[in-house]
Amino acid sequence: MILQTKNIKTKDMYRTHTCGELRIGHAGQTVTLAGWVQRTRKMGGMTFVDLRDRYGITQLVFNEEKDIALTEEANRLGREYVIQATGTVSERYSKNKNLPTGDIEIEVTEFNVLNKSLTPPFTIEEETDGGDDLRMKYRYLDLRRPNVRRNLELRHRMCIEVRNYLSNLGFIEVETPVLIGSTPEGARDFVVPSRMNKGQFYALPQSPQTLKQLLMVSGFDRYFQIAKCFRDEDLRADRQPEFTQIDCEMSFVTQEDIIQTFEGMAKHLFKTLRGVELNEPFLRMPWAEAMKRFGSDKPDMRFGMEFVELMDTLQLGTFPVFDNANYIGGICAPGCATYTRKQLDQLTEYVKRPQIGAKGLVYARVGEDGSVKSSVDKFYTTEQLNTLKDKMQAAPGDLILILSGDDAMKTRKQLCELRLEMGQRLGLRDKNKFALLWVTEFPMFEWSEEEGRLMAMHHPFTHPMEEDINLLDTRPEDVRADAYDMVCNGIEVGGGSIRIHDPKLQAKMFEILGFTPEKAEEQFGFLMNAFKYGAPPHGGLAYGLDRWVSIFAGLDSIRDCIAFPKNNSGRDVMLDAPAPIDQKQLDELEIKLNLKK
Ligand code: AMO
Repeated sequence: MILQTKNIKTKDMYRTHTCGELRIGHAGQTVTLAGWVQRTRKMGGMTFVDLRDRYGITQLVFNEEKDIALTEEANRLGREYVIQATGTVSERYSKNKNLPTGDIEIEVTEFNVLNKSLTPPFTIEEETDGGDDLRMKYRYLDLRRPNVRRNLELRHRMCIEVRNYLSNLGFIEVETPVLIGSTPEGARDFVVPSRMNKGQFYALPQSPQTLKQLLMVSGFDRYFQIAKCFRDEDLRADRQPEFTQIDCEMSFVTQEDIIQTFEGMAKHLFKTLRGVELNEPFLRMPWAEAMKRFGSDKPDMRFGMEFVELMDTLQLGTFPVFDNANYIGGICAPGCATYTRKQLDQLTEYVKRPQIGAKGLVYARVGEDGSVKSSVDKFYTTEQLNTLKDKMQAAPGDLILILSGDDAMKTRKQLCELRLEMGQRLGLRDKNKFALLWVTEFPMFEWSEEEGRLMAMHHPFTHPMEEDINLLDTRPEDVRADAYDMVCNGIEVGGGSIRIHDPKLQAKMFEILGFTPEKAEEQFGFLMNAFKYGAPPHGGLAYGLDRWVSIFAGLDSIRDCIAFPKNNSGRDVMLDAPAPIDQKQLDELEIKLNLKK
């Protein structure tokens, strides 16, 4: 268990102790508890009630022989009734080793029903029979389940540790507004109409990026904020439209200062919240190397299975598919040579799924005697296949999996998916193992087919690497950014950069990004003006709080560590939001809907 809730001593009017507090040392004491009825069991003349609150479960016992009326009343208690019960703590006859309170029970002398409950739509226990949709609709009941509650407790403790760590280093927490103008982070904005400024809209912050840079101009040289961010983008297991960043900015720093500070924070969190000591410096890898070795800017470093480039080995003028390719790469799956035809067909289907998009999969099995049998035997000699085996450093029993394509970047991404799938199948992506990595030297720009122009890969305020500034005019696509991401177990848990503080360089950046001076002025004039009044060199980073909590808690989705999350269509099914608004509200805003049929 990640988190043991401390025993909170209560002096509330309704109770003397919590349901997680009483031990054998309390035997003989008269106590009053309050909580929810998890279940009732009748055994002969005895009735047992499990009473639950945030802190645990305590068994209440009623004995017909002692008080028949009270026991009959207890038999009428329904699941999730809220009750208050008074009685004597006594040692249990048959102890429950699985419960911290399992040595004792309360012999109840008096109880009140504080509130009745309808029968809940699913069982409110660690293991529940409720499906995702039902649990989300009744999230307030789902949150009574100890495992869900523990995730929120972990989140709370993480926020405290973050505040402690940063405050000790002189950071101050500053709140920035939520009703602002557009902040360019590459996603769509959520917008809010303004009643007092008809026809005008606020945008909710995709991050407090520009505001934190303004705070640097104001001289707050170490800022942080546990900040709500909003992005209207397609959702995945690690994305919510509304999420939380641990957002930070520092002045008079280099990339190295920032990496040291936030690597320190990650180590502090692992130590205090998971009891894991990470003593070594985290691995660092330039973006280009990560793409070449793993086909991803967020490689999962819990396992190897690195890519081997096979153009020289397999482009021999004998197999047209490979001969026409611009990239051929393979991975070696240890011990998988015994994969059946059916398993290999499944893998082929897997890489051909539209989300991955490979055209096919070539495999080669290395037998126990070292011989190679492949799906392309007829195109290659035994000697050529042995060279492949050597190049892949494959051992007897290994399975070599090969993808090829015209676009090297796309093919590498497909091979990355295959590597992750094989890692999963081989049990190499253990949730209790943590592999951390800084990815550095990102390209400054990426080409957007949709927009038909270069876009900032991180954001337009990112400083280019000093040694590449001279390429801005001639080969902008080769310019690397002074930017860095932190990756944990293949998940991007944070990212940041050194910022441009020179208005001239910033103006140049906007020009390369295709902004006219007027458009740049309209969107970012406030920032460029501020930079004319003594902007210090600065940089920062934001960690994704939800992602960190879900990694620490071993969750599959960040939804499980958010109290009231949205579903995959961006809906809050409990509040039934978003929803149409009253015509009166629309009239007040002078907004007319023009919905497509
Ligand atoms: P970036 O866009 O990389 O950087 O975001 C920082 C971190 O926030 C988390 N994150 C998300 N978590 C959940 N749901 C989402 N939709 C989502 N989007 C992002 C990720 C990510 O690494 N202003 C810059 C930071 C900076 O430069 O200082 C920014 O927002 O963990």
